[in-house]
Amino acid sequence: MIIEPRMRGFICLTAHPTGAEQNVKNQIEYIKSKGAIAGAKKVLVIGASTGFGLASRITSAFGSDAATIGVFFEKPPVEGKTASPGWYNSAAFEKEAHKAGLYAKSINGDAFSNEIKRETLDLIKADLGQVDLIIYSLASPVRTNPNTGVTHRSVLKPIGQTFTNKTVDFHTGNVSEVSIAPANEEDIENTVAVMGGEDWAMWIDALKSENLLAEGATTIAYSYIGPELTEAVYRKGTIGRAKDHLEATAFTITDNLKSIGGKAYVSVNKALVTQASSAIPVIPLYISLLYKIMKEEGIHEGCIEQIQRLFQDRLYNGSEVPVDEKGRIRIDDWEMREDVQAKVAALWKEATTETLPSIGDLAGYRNDFLNLFGFEVPGVDYKADANEVVNIESIK
Ligand code: NAD
Ligand code: NA
Repeated sequence: MIIEPRMRGFICLTAHPTGAEQNVKNQIEYIKSKGAIAGAKKVLVIGASTGFGLASRITSAFGSDAATIGVFFEKPPVEGKTASPGWYNSAAFEKEAHKAGLYAKSINGDAFSNEIKRETLDLIKADLGQVDLIIYSLASPVRTNPNTGVTHRSVLKPIGQTFTNKTVDFHTGNVSEVSIAPANEEDIENTVAVMGGEDWAMWIDALKSENLLAEGATTIAYSYIGPELTEAVYRKGTIGRAKDHLEATAFTITDNLKSIGGKAYVSVNKALVTQASSAIPVIPLYISLLYKIMKEEGIHEGCIEQIQRLFQDRLYNGSEVPVDEKGRIRIDDWEMREDVQAKVAALWKEATTETLPSIGDLAGYRNDFLNLFGFEVPGVDYKADANEVVNIESIK
């Protein structure tokens, strides 16, 4: 089967297994090239199939020889339809992990549900006994609360007033003005219910109550802050309220973990092209300008470079974990550098459909977006037949 990208709006409907496999292999090679990390040995990654979660799984396995259990929500391939990219990523990850003699099993389903939590707890109990690191890296537009049965949908809206600014359709390169009407209270509550910390706390409660957390266990979730340019729609918008809640939850989880000497962290990560961030208005324009500047300065990173630095220099640096005044780990430090932000802000003013291809890294954005789906990956022969049946070894 020859597989080509098929776009609909902000999503790509197809994914390429060979390209996804190559992406995973490249990330593994990167981690190996940076040397061993004195990290956790039994790791649960919730949201393990793409983006920061996949990078966390790869860094744990190939940086610290960790056994990993990955939880994610992906579509397996069916007759005439490719799998979702995270399926192929996970198939490739398990293949490589098993080749290296590492324990790796995966669970595909809704991490917000009681059933998937149950399945995961049982697997830990049977195979690992306990875990010592739990990565929480879900990005989802919807969550059904298992206790109330209510389905919440998140929205990306400003709070208080209409927000108007530039945005780019990265497929066409068209820069236009977008206006987003403010959220109401219900929008805010729903977004916090989906992307806030409630489910993270539920996972840790469940693990702790069944004695599945090792002494000194650490858990970490990912957040974002970003610049003034995107503040109204991001950090001071509905999603920002959810991130405030997630960050506050780190403190309540840490309290809960005192009895086992454990700790919860939030790491603030850099803006990157992922399926989640591509859907947020204004962010793709910001990212395409940011990439241009960070590449020029030689400080550009992808998910794997970010997480490698998080583990090596922050979490497992052999001494105290450096945090900001709000207790957060900051690996968005290079993005937020004053000189970088000043340059992005200046370019923002000049950005139009005509100027963006030269002042911004629109090509880099598009390339990264296609890479998410396994396309345009160097070294992959897209004219060759791609494998139609790709299994994840641990999923029957
Ligand atoms: P992503 O879309 O690449 O990954 C999301 C993961 O969650 C996937 O593994 C997916 O399968 C899984 N998932 C989604 N819904 C699920 C469900 N119901 N059950 C089980 N698994 C489910 O996203 P990402 O960009 O890596 O985001 C991960 C975290 O990092 C988020 O909290 C996000 O806000 C944060 N973050 C992202 C950026 C960025 O620019 N992309 C920057 C900073 C922080
Ligand atoms: Na992720």
